[in-house]
Amino acid sequence: MTSASDLLALAVDIACEAGELAHRRRSEGVAIAATKSALADIVTEADREVELLIRHRLQEERPDDGFLGEESGAERGTSEITWVVDPIDGTVNYAYGIPNYAVSIAAVTGDPHPATWTAVAGVVFAPALGELFTAARGGGAHLGHQVLAVSQPHGGAGALVATGFGYDPETHAGDLARLARVMPLARDIRRMGAASVDLSYVAAGRLDAYFERGLHPWDHAAGGLLVEEAGGRFGGPDGAAPSATMTIAASPDLFAAIERALAGDVPASAE
Ligand code: IPD
Ligand code: CA
Repeated sequence: MTSASDLLALAVDIACEAGELAHRRRSEGVAIAATKSALADIVTEADREVELLIRHRLQEERPDDGFLGEESGAERGTSEITWVVDPIDGTVNYAYGIPNYAVSIAAVTGDPHPATWTAVAGVVFAPALGELFTAARGGGAHLGHQVLAVSQPHGGAGALVATGFGYDPETHAGDLARLARVMPLARDIRRMGAASVDLSYVAAGRLDAYFERGLHPWDHAAGGLLVEEAGGRFGGPDGAAPSATMTIAASPDLFAAIERALAGDVPASAE
């Protein structure tokens, strides 16, 4: 089997090329190509073009591997590796000219589903921010050459917590109710608009925690590995895998506090 560091090197190479293409297309002007699951769920021509670039590059370099991408769907491979790709995570930011968007590429082994796969290499490249986050299983998480570690907040209402809201308006009341339950743990809340970057920031200690309902596998495949390799815990509540039901990322202690708050337990700091 190919080593995690070789898979990471390829992912970095392709993510940089893809990110530069996304960045160039953004500077040329961006038009919304279509809406997807809801009016708010948009795709641009650049999302599609960038995913095709990534898919073609992977096909050239590793024709036996599987592929799971946000825009062009899934294809099973014959090797043990599947590439999980979000060509532009943070598409709404991208469309509005907000620089917080990223290319996210992960290599996973096992059945290509977050409940069963093992992420072995992951890259989140934010071209407009000039930041490259990388992780290889067992090799740590990095921002450029800097080694990353999750923060260790001291409890109380001291956590900087990021979250997000899905595109379906029907789900927003529930999302806001969950946010209200977590709020007593928070110093402040961020909604930055790109799940892969949120997870990278948790890995970097720039955010203490992140939680979101409704994520897709490509939103978190690379970022989740970054969190784990930075010493954090990443997954769903009650030992579940990360899923559309709920995904949490934080240091192990804060993860447990957020898990309890989401379940409806009022944290001690709120009493
Ligand atoms: C979205 C972003 C957003 C999150 C959504 C994702 P997209 O991905 O990561 O922050 O709240 O759940 O779907 O659509 O920009 O690739
Ligand atoms: Ca995404």
